[in-house]
Amino acid sequence: MKYFFILGRNPTLSSAELTAALGKQTIFNYLSSEVAVADIRGELSRDELMPRLGGTIKFGEILEEVSEISAEDIAEILKNSSVKKIYFGFSFYKLEEDISAARLKREKQKIKNMAMEIKSLLKDIKIQARWVTSKEDNLSSVVVKKNKLLTEAGAELVFLIGKEKIYLGKTLAVQEFEDLSFRDYGRPARSMRVGLMPPKLAKTMINLAQVNKDTALLDPFCGFATILEEALLWGYENLIGADINSETLAGAKENLEWLKKNYQLPVTNYQLLESDVQKISEKLSSHSVDAIVTEPYLGPPLQGNESPEKIQQIIKELSDLYLAAFREFKKILKLNGKIVILFPIFHTEKQDFSLPIIEEIKKIGFTVANPLPTNLEKYPFLKITPRHSIIYSRPDQLVWREILIFTLG
Ligand SMILES: C[S@@+](CC[C@H](N)C(=O)[O-])C[C@H]1O[C@@H](n2cnc3c(N)ncnc32)[C@H](O)[C@@H]1O
Repeated sequence: MKYFFILGRNPTLSSAELTAALGKQTIFNYLSSEVAVADIRGELSRDELMPRLGGTIKFGEILEEVSEISAEDIAEILKNSSVKKIYFGFSFYKLEEDISAARLKREKQKIKNMAMEIKSLLKDIKIQARWVTSKEDNLSSVVVKKNKLLTEAGAELVFLIGKEKIYLGKTLAVQEFEDLSFRDYGRPARSMRVGLMPPKLAKTMINLAQVNKDTALLDPFCGFATILEEALLWGYENLIGADINSETLAGAKENLEWLKKNYQLPVTNYQLLESDVQKISEKLSSHSVDAIVTEPYLGPPLQGNESPEKIQQIIKELSDLYLAAFREFKKILKLNGKIVILFPIFHTEKQDFSLPIIEEIKKIGFTVANPLPTNLEKYPFLKITPRHSIIYSRPDQLVWREILIFTLG
């Protein structure tokens, strides 16, 4: 079956996550900065896949490949004998990155102009139809969900416009925005000081680790447990969180117990350890951990007016901490164990400063893994840094994040 995946605002991270989640052997028939299309053996379950992905906004099945679309074709897809009132909406994405803006605009307008004719064709067969539109060009996840477009009585039709062809697809699931926001803002222990990471990013990092649910997964800087929460929800059975701060750990426990209760999770297995990462091998058996997924301490909060000397001092302190951590990770990880980690990039007007420790980490015994399969390297809009990391940032942030994957051995 052919599926489409509408990518989040960082297409590099989204496609790296998708290939990790669907299997590295997945070949995209098409990839643009907005959408990936792939043939998947078997059926993808909307209830299972979507809650796992942090970087995909919608996914659905491709129904038809056409060069021209008519109102009759669309009405035919929409008619469903079991309902007498239906809701439908359209979204448009570019199938190929280099499609001309003029063609995209022309096709969009042509299809939108068909809406009234579609309604009247459906009316002829006694189906009342409502066309759902929004101010934005494309329907957001919220609009799709709230207007019943994912139910029996609705459909979001997605038009993937290429240079010559158009794929017509139907959305099966959208990002679980209500749940994500409930977990982000609803959990009992939060603090601006610790700087919570978004649950979506936690999901993506877990996907990038590509380890089974029965493996031992450690977050050695667990903070208020964002990564552990997402892993717990997903069914990881052997989770370990550690943090140097006992109060933060108490918050992590509170959040995990809140999650267990609210999501009615069955008996779950996690342990929380109070530990300085630089001594974590004293708390865990040698070579017992399969994967580490973590957002470490990223340095003190910045004002934006720090001198280059001050930034260099922070970089030196963090470099020492991270190198000590990697020496410990070598002791506790199994051979070929994975680390998915965020490093800070200090973004200033004149220059971006990243941690100059990759060569040292390699000397400890780690290899840097490329987050993207080689067959995706040809797409110029996917951005991997020369040190094989993916940058995750917003323009207004002083500290950007860089996602790196390491393997032991
Ligand atoms: C950026 S926060 C992690 C936030 C976490 N990802 C979340 O969303 O809740 C970093 C955490 O590292 C902890 N930390 C700082 N230095 C540490 C060390 N040497 N060993 C272990 N934990 C440390 C801090 O207490 C803090 O909770």
